[in-house]
Amino acid sequence: MLSEVLLVSAPGKVILHGEHAVVHGKVALAVALNLRTFLRLQPHSNGKVGLNLPNIGIRRAWDVASLQLLDTSFLGHSDGAVLTAEHVEKLKEVAGFPEDCVDPERLAVLAFLYLYLSICRSQRWTEENLELINKWAFQGERVIHGNPSGVDNAVSTWGGALRYQQGKISSLKRPPALKILLINTKVPRSTKALVANVRSRLLKFPEIVAPLLTSIDAISLECERVLGEMAAAPTPEHYLVLEELIDMNQHHLNALGVGHASLDRLCQVTTAHGLHSKLTGAGGGGCGITLLRPDLERPEVEATKRALSGCGFDCWETSIGAPGVSVHTATSLDASVQQGLDSL
Ligand code: PMV
Repeated sequence: MLSEVLLVSAPGKVILHGEHAVVHGKVALAVALNLRTFLRLQPHSNGKVGLNLPNIGIRRAWDVASLQLLDTSFLGHSDGAVLTAEHVEKLKEVAGFPEDCVDPERLAVLAFLYLYLSICRSQRWTEENLELINKWAFQGERVIHGNPSGVDNAVSTWGGALRYQQGKISSLKRPPALKILLINTKVPRSTKALVANVRSRLLKFPEIVAPLLTSIDAISLECERVLGEMAAAPTPEHYLVLEELIDMNQHHLNALGVGHASLDRLCQVTTAHGLHSKLTGAGGGGCGITLLRPDLERPEVEATKRALSGCGFDCWETSIGAPGVSVHTATSLDASVQQGLDSL
């Protein structure tokens, strides 16, 4: 049992290049953002374990005693082990959810229950052990996305900028702290369905789609090379190359069928301000990223953000290469984060 409040955070992430292609064995470049999710673990003496996810409107509590009485033998013993469809079905029973529930809020509850029950069962929690955290995070991802590549949990665990290919991870040395806009179109989408659609398109048109994946792979490698050069001495030309890579990848992703009218709109709006954008992640709505060159004047950035907000999108200005999962003391937290946590 925790004796005091534990504050932990992990960075959000975006995929710079390689989404979808990574599912088919190609390279992806993923970076941690200076936009973090904070978790406050707080001991209670009311015999309950509570889950409060204010951003998605979740507030649930379970009696610890009744959770302890559950037969969790179905979860097995190994650390961050393999989650099966049967596990998910049993968890739905525990949570009292219908068998066919797919809404992200309920899936988030299931991911929490799975991790809570499994970690308590194995009675092991080693904060420093990033490998272990990454394995658990991967299983949580699997509850939500089915068959994820593993790139998302890896970059949020280790932070920085990662090259990821078929489970092999390497960190990019000293990635430049590129500034970007992260834009949420607020159009909901299912990563699982989009990944499945790309697979079907690959099977239907192998001669057409396989070269697209190979080209996306080459874009990721070229981006990695340019970021490497920028670590030593960034030049305006480097930014121009990054912008070209963004444009080419966005067109490829459209050809894979994961574009969306909202993402087209996002690209048009930023093009009108002389900026370059692509979708990030699964596509079909969701989020996009826009590169902010260092020569941009503040009023130009503000005007772009206003235009994007005018389309109904949420927009954050952030930078890439943030630290991975971290533990905080209350005093080291930003006042706004502290306030947010206190208001829960
Ligand atoms: O939509 P996100 O942020 O979960 O990213 C999905 C990335 C894909 O490459 C499409 C799938 C994956 O598992 O890598």
